[in-house]
Amino acid sequence: MNPQIERLEGHLGRLKMYHTRETLASVLERASKKELSFADFLDELLGEEVTAKNDKNVRMRMNLARLPYVKTLETFDFSFQPSVDARQVRELASGRYLDAAENVVLLGPPGVGKTHLAVALGIKAIQQGKRVLFASATSLVALLAKAHQENRLEEKLKTFAQPHLLIVDELGYIPVDRHGANLFFQLVCRRYEKGSMIVTSNQRFGDWGEIFGDPIIATAILDRILHHSITVNIRGESYRLKEKKRAGLLSKAISSGVGNEDRLQTATAKTANSEG
Ligand SMILES: Nc1ncnc2c1ncn2[C@@H]1O[C@H](COP(=O)(O)OP(=O)(O)OP(=O)(O)O)[C@@H](O)[C@H]1O
Ligand SMILES: [Mg+2]
Repeated sequence: MNPQIERLEGHLGRLKMYHTRETLASVLERASKKELSFADFLDELLGEEVTAKNDKNVRMRMNLARLPYVKTLETFDFSFQPSVDARQVRELASGRYLDAAENVVLLGPPGVGKTHLAVALGIKAIQQGKRVLFASATSLVALLAKAHQENRLEEKLKTFAQPHLLIVDELGYIPVDRHGANLFFQLVCRRYEKGSMIVTSNQRFGDWGEIFGDPIIATAILDRILHHSITVNIRGESYRLKEKKRAGLLSKAISSGVGNEDRLQTATAKTANSEG
């Protein structure tokens, strides 16, 4: 190998400019073909290295975030869910709420897009260089309880307190016991005014006492979450239901009377059975 190329590759390795090192031959060839000025050459080369590094960081943070799926704001159909204010969501996508350590609470019945929007905002935050962590409320409380039992609570609280954005999904589907509520309260206190949370729930705030089995702790949790927060109330039809309707799996009689996803699933299964 040309000793100069070898030396260049060595320097690029030391500088951790791995993308440039990998593409060095073609970069040099392109520069000489296009007869680039020195400044243009450097501009192009460093620009590509920065892009490659950003992409790699985004991929890494995407993996660390443990999102349940990848859904973006671009694929969210705002016309299907008019109760969601597209302008408000776009404002959230700017990430200003993260800098102010504000929380976002997404409320609504099953299938209306709460998790989709939470994930999409999480991805925006990742693209803005933020660390994000996603967990269902149930698994979060279970992990805290397990850590408490194993004398590792402090460590686990840190895990959930550190990311810029913590997404807590499905608060309210499964009730949390008193001990779990206490642990969740500790986490909320850690993050209060320091880091944002996005919380999704199918329960109105008035019913959070039942989620935590204790109105006093529920009030204390709500008080801290809501102090600096934006609530998005989603009313409307389940998107899952729309997709089932389109697939012709639901008879009109069933679909018109259904508001509840569990009943819907039973109904759908029945329809599918009777059709099959
Ligand atoms: N307005 C929408 N545009 C495009 N896709 C949507 C929309 N609303 C929901 N979806 C899709 O429908 C499915 C259900 O949405 P999602 O998981 O966000 O519901 P959810 O409100 O979190 O419901 P649950 O309370 O049952 O968890 C997902 O695949 C999601 O991508
Ligand atoms: Mg959901």
